Amino acid sequence: MKKMNKKNGDRTVLYPGSFDPITKGHVDIIMRLQKIFSKVIVLVADSTRKTYLFTSETRLKLIREALGSLSGVTVVSSKELTVDFARKAGVSLIARSARTVSDWEYEYALADANKKMNSKIETLFIMADPKYAFISSSLVREVAQYGGDTSPFVPVNVVKALKLKIKTSNKR
Ligand code: COA
Repeated sequence: MKKMNKKNGDRTVLYPGSFDPITKGHVDIIMRLQKIFSKVIVLVADSTRKTYLFTSETRLKLIREALGSLSGVTVVSSKELTVDFARKAGVSLIARSARTVSDWEYEYALADANKKMNSKIETLFIMADPKYAFISSSLVREVAQYGGDTSPFVPVNVVKALKLKIKTSNKR
């Protein structure tokens, strides 16, 4: 009998987000997904509703640095629809995390749109750890803009990158 992989039958999950920047809450989600799935693809994508502090290249670099060598996890970026990326990568499962009730409306709309664009796509919701429930990337950016300490919210490399980014943009 073929030995089954204990991790959900060799399944791959796609975890898309803006990650501007990656927070401790995102890291927690990635580590939990990594325990469940054989392969986790972290996808740095852009939303047309947002303007970004960091370029997608920098966001990707910061995620890779923050995660180190976490087995089974790859970090990529894409300028296309998440469902198109998923189809080309042969992935049918998208993971999104919900922190509080207020996240749900947006998340449902996103999951519904993705499903309508590709009926094979399933969205899996994973609850954020309550200790990270009120962290968001925009909150982190605001704390950084005002010179506050971002270390409770983001990995060490991101703290440094934020300081540098704010310093250089203030000089202009
Ligand atoms: N810990 C910390 N923060 C969390 C979190 C967690 N566990 N879960 C969600 N968040 C926060 C993020 O920090 C972010 O905060 P912000 O709004 O202050 O920046 C917010 O929740 C949601 O951001 P994110 O998960 O990064 O998603 P997004 O809404 O910025 O982007 C994409 C969603 C990128 C996945 C989506 O726009 C996309 O797929 N883009 C490609 C184009 C596409 O396919 N669009 C879909 C059209 S239907």
